Order: sequence, then C-alpha cells, then structure tokens
Amino acid sequence: MVAIRVVASTSLTLFASTSSASCYYQSLSSIFTKLQFSPIWDISFAITPFSSSSSSSSSRRVVKRMAHSIAHATVGLTQPNKIDPPKISFAAKEIDLVQWKGDILTVGVTEKDMAKDENSKFKNSILQKLDTHLGGLLFEASSEEDFTGKAGQSTVLRLPGLGSKRVGLIGLGSAASATAAYHSLGELVANAAKSAQASNVAITLASSDVIPAELKLSTASAIATGAVLGIFDDNRFKSESRKPALKSVDILGLGTGPEIERKLKYAEDVCSGIIFGKQLVNAPANVLTPGVLAEEAARIASEYSDVFTAKILDVEQCKELKMGSYLGVAAASANPPHFIHLCYKPPSGEVKTKLALVGKGLTFDSGGYNIKTGPGCSIELMKVDMGGSAAVLGAAKALAQIKPTGVEVHFIVAACENMISGTGMRPGDVITASNGKTIEVNNTDAEGRLTLADALVYACNQGVEKIVDLATLTGACVVALGPSIAGVFTPSDELAKEVIGASEVSGEKLWRMPLEESYWETMKSGVADMVNTGGRQGGSITAALFLKQFVDEKVQWMHIDMAGPVWNDKKKTATGFGISTLVEWVLKNSS
Ligand code: BES
Ligand code: MN
Ligand code: ZN
Repeated sequence: MVAIRVVASTSLTLFASTSSASCYYQSLSSIFTKLQFSPIWDISFAITPFSSSSSSSSSRRVVKRMAHSIAHATVGLTQPNKIDPPKISFAAKEIDLVQWKGDILTVGVTEKDMAKDENSKFKNSILQKLDTHLGGLLFEASSEEDFTGKAGQSTVLRLPGLGSKRVGLIGLGSAASATAAYHSLGELVANAAKSAQASNVAITLASSDVIPAELKLSTASAIATGAVLGIFDDNRFKSESRKPALKSVDILGLGTGPEIERKLKYAEDVCSGIIFGKQLVNAPANVLTPGVLAEEAARIASEYSDVFTAKILDVEQCKELKMGSYLGVAAASANPPHFIHLCYKPPSGEVKTKLALVGKGLTFDSGGYNIKTGPGCSIELMKVDMGGSAAVLGAAKALAQIKPTGVEVHFIVAACENMISGTGMRPGDVITASNGKTIEVNNTDAEGRLTLADALVYACNQGVEKIVDLATLTGACVVALGPSIAGVFTPSDELAKEVIGASEVSGEKLWRMPLEESYWETMKSGVADMVNTGGRQGGSITAALFLKQFVDEKVQWMHIDMAGPVWNDKKKTATGFGISTLVEWVLKNSS
C-alpha cells in the first residue's frame, strides 16, 4: 500500500492511496493556465516546471527528483513566459449591419456575391445596402483593389465618423460551403483585427440568407473557431510579445438564441483543447520532457477532477507490467519515461461505451543509434514527435469541459525520448513487449511503433470496445499524402465511417489507406517474432501492420498517421491536428 500525499500551500489537502504503486492526482492547479496555488507533491516522479510561475518562492517541493532530471530539464535555462491564451467572447446577434457599432465590420463574400449589375451596383442585397450607406465607397474600393472574392483575399476600409470604424471584405472563394472556408474566414478576420489592434469586430456573410437553417450553427461555430485560433500566437518563448486587443466578436445574420450560444460555447471548448495541444507541440524538447508532459496531463485531471482521474506510471511500474518494447526506446534517455493514463467518466448516468485514445508521445526523436542524419531528416523538428499525445491530451481538455454522457474514455500515452547513450537500445537487440511478443529492433528510428505496442496492449486491458491511436509515425505517410492529410488504417469499415465522418464535421483531412496483409512478409525476423522495420516501400502500411500485432482482435481499432499535418512549415507552428476530430468522434459515441 503506497500512500500518496498531495498538499497544496493553500488550505487544500488531499490524501489518495492506491493498492498498486500507481499515482492518482486530484485538485492540482494548472501550470498552463493560472497557477492559483503551488502544490507540494509527495510522489516519486520527476517534476520539472513547464511555466515560470510554478517555481514561486512559496512552493516547497518534496518531490524525490532524480538528480539528472533536474540538470537536463534546465538545458539552456529556458522558462516559458506565462501568457494566457486570449479570451474572446462571442455573441450571435441579429442587428442591421449599418447599425452595428465597433472597430471592424467584416463581411465574408463569395466571388458570386461580387457580381454587379448594368448600373455598376452590387447584385447582392447586403453589399448593395452597405455600399449605399457608405456612399459607393465599397464599390470603388473593391474595383480599385481588384477584390473579386477569391479565397484568402481581403480588403479593409477606414471609415472615420461612422458607427463601425472599418469595414472589411473577406474572400470566401467560389463555394463557401466547406468548414475549411469558414475557418479561414475567421482567421482572416483575426488577422485584420490584429493589424488594426481592434478590440471588437463583427462578422457576417453577404449570403447568410441562403445558408440552410441546419447549417447556420455549424457555420457560426466554424467562423468562431477560425477567429479564436487565428488570434492565438504562441509567444511563450519570445522575450517580448504584444497582447492581442481583440475582446469580442459579434456573429451577425446566422441566428440567435440558446442553440447557437451552446454551439459557440462548444467551439470555444474545442479551441481551448486545440490551443493546449499546439502549446504542447510547440514547446521545445528541453522544456517539454516526458516528466513535464505527464505533469501537464495530471494537471488536466486535477483541474477537472469531477470527470477525470490520472495515473502516471514510472519506469519501475512499467517494468512490472513488462513493457519491454516501450522501455527499450526510453533506455538511452537521461529524462525518464512516464506512462500517462487519464480516465474520463461522465459526471452522471450510465456508461454505455468505452473508448481509448492512444497518442505517440516521443518528446524528442533523435533516431537513436540509427541517428537521423542527412538532408531532409528534420532532426531539429523532432520535438513534434509527441503530436499524437498532444491530440489525445488536447481532446481530454476539451471533453473535460463539454462533459459528454454515456461514454468512458481512456487517454493513454507512453511518453519518452529516443536518445543515444551507452545504456541505449542497439540495432539488432531483441525486446519483449507486454503481450509477450518479441521484436528484433532492426532500426532504432522506428521507435514510435515500439512505444505504441505497449500502449495498445495496455489500452486493450482497459476493456474498451474501440481504440483510436494517433502518431507522427512515418515519413512515408508524408511522402504518400503530403503535409496536410493524415493516413488512417483500420480493419473496421464501421470505425472508418465513424471517424472519417467526424473529420468531415471538424474540417480535418483524413484518407483511408490499405492494411495490406501480404506486406507483413517484410516484417519477419530470423531471431524474434518480428522486426520493427520493413523495407522502404509501403512504409506507413508496414508500420500500421506492426501496430496491429498488439491489438486484441475483438477490439475495433484505428491508427492515424499524422506525421504530415502535425506541423505547419510555412507558419512554423503546430496545427493542433486531430483534436477536433477526436472530440467529434467521442461525442458521436456518447448518449
Ligand atoms: N518520428 C518519425 C516520423 C516523422 C517523420 C515524424 C517526419 C514527423 C515528421 C519516426 O519515428 C521515424 O523516424 N520513422 C522512420 C521509420 C523508418 C525508420 C522505418 C521514417 O519515417 O523514416
Ligand atoms: Mn524515429
Ligand atoms: Zn518518431
């Protein structure tokens, strides 16, 4: 019996005890958001602060840290700045555009909306009305600036002395129906607000009247999502940054009332999960170690202790569970591995479906002895190799606020680093996973699947019906589908339908790939049950076939290879990929 004491420097004191050596944390504060009190933990797992505020003078840590983890967590002395993501309030209103008062009134227009009649007037009634109100300024400006309504185009006019100080036209392209078009509308509005330092803006669509009633809600929420994510810049690691001024966004012409307010709140919850996921991926590997990732997960659970419990396993506990495949990958690292397991249970009512979300959590992937060398190997980008875990924990944060009923969800991450040292796994070593299967490691850079093997076995042992795993697993998937589409692999047509359906709602791009069994031939080993790497051909398929070895046949399982869409190369930032689709999928399974 191990007693775990969690003491906060406020009056809050909690005692938790467990029969195994696992740790349950409750009611700890978040270091990502505001740190209200400094917790003192009496548990044997290395904790390194992710934000500067957690090392306040009043905190007296009694954590038994391993000496080396302190040294390594402070590589480069970086402490992220504590910046709360901007808080914007959304309101759905039905007021006349020309009556609206604020900093910028923006109108989303399609190319069709820009059509003019023989008298050089807009055919679209909203644009016509606005133009008349502005004395023809809109018409003039749109002609002079060659604004045609193409996707991504925008033009903003200053209007001194009027109710709205600026009016912006934002191009939606030819077919403004897809979620993606509304996301980019919201993002362009956010950009316009940023450059004008606007604190309140309104968004409407020139053709909102032709949007079918059942699509108005999702349109409003897609616009709001684009605006929230567009206004967010991750400046935690810059020595100086400007706070966005935007405080409120009015959504006009898409209806009012409790239904749309609920939908906007839902979008806000999902966005807070996406922003959290982006922050996790953006954080460099010297700051976001496996221990810090575990700490962030535990904090989600403590902040939402009404629906979450957390269990973090250390090396010894993983050894007890015989996770040789995962521990093999972690063997070279000075920052010890942490196996993360959060469990969501609805606040009330019966559980009808049990799900698991499993995320690859390599806080850094050097390749190991098969070190990533040569042009294009992107070793410097390998902090993103925990993108799967960020998707899983981002979804956890969103679901903690949405609180779906009828569904239990397990969030599982075998977090570690893939490093090099004298204690590391050698190419050719044979390791044994927790289901007893043996693996000849013919390439230490195919490490993600080794960590997922034990995570998938663990997930199956939770008695779940369906598992979705997400991983930045193969460069081959990026070659196949490019940087913005994730590959999905599943033997279950039913699960494929569910998850791909969810992705169509969220606007994320998934493409189903084949689990071609005949390719397993290349994964045979002379000495063990299998090797971990096939040939160059069909690399993302053989990786998926490898994972399949660790999933119970009676469990519906899907693997999502998100090595491409985890990162936006142009914007040099994480995308938060996967989170909105996972949340949609869990909600489909709720009742
Ligand atoms: N983490 C990489 C995959 C990756 C590539 C993620 C690009 C993000 C962007 C993975 O662990 C890896 O190294 N895969 C190898 C597998 C190979 C050795 C069979 C790869 O894709 O080269
Ligand atoms: Mn690798
Ligand atoms: Zn990797």
